[in-house]
Amino acid sequence: MHPSYLFSVWLHLLAATVWIGGMVFLSAVLVPVTRREECRGIAASLIQWTGRRFRWVGWLCFGVLFVTGVLNLAYRGFGWGDLWSGQLWQGDFGRVLAIKLLLVAVILLISALHDFVMGPRATASWRHNPASADAVRLRRQASWMGRVNLVLALSVAALAVTLVRGLPW
Ligand code: HEM
Repeated sequence: MHPSYLFSVWLHLLAATVWIGGMVFLSAVLVPVTRREECRGIAASLIQWTGRRFRWVGWLCFGVLFVTGVLNLAYRGFGWGDLWSGQLWQGDFGRVLAIKLLLVAVILLISALHDFVMGPRATASWRHNPASADAVRLRRQASWMGRVNLVLALSVAALAVTLVRGLPW
């Protein structure tokens, strides 16, 4: 196997691991910790600062996933012609890839809305008046967008495993 193909798959896996791992850390570690009484004064700032920092890590991962994803397809013998002719979507591999990329498109949409609209609005409202109905509603919406994206990301990773090894039926 060509070393640059192995490097591309390794980089693809690394980007998926960093992004999914980061989302799990935020929802399973950081958010629960900020709910502790001791963190009440700094919780909103902590989530805002961490969210801003992870936002760029996440979008960098998306960039790496896209570039290495295209390279992975090229190493598997697919070219742009196969995209236009529809050859890329043929067979089990093609169908799984189509569903995977559809979910990736939904993830990108939700991430953009969460990272650049709902997230900043929620933390700003939370810092301004933590007990307000607005702050509570916006925080809940932003949290649910994050959770939906995590479930979608885990589904994409599961699809990817079948992409490489074939469907279980
Ligand atoms: C959220 C984005 C993505 C995630 C989480 C993701 C995750 C993964 C994972 C975990 C694998 C390895 C599966 C394994 O070896 O068991 C994989 C493989 C693959 N991914 Fe992605 N991926 C993403 C986006 C993309 C995109 C955008 C493309 C295409 C443009 C793509 C194309 C591929 C291909 C072709 C493989 C097979 C690699 C090989 O030849 O072994 N992926 N993906």
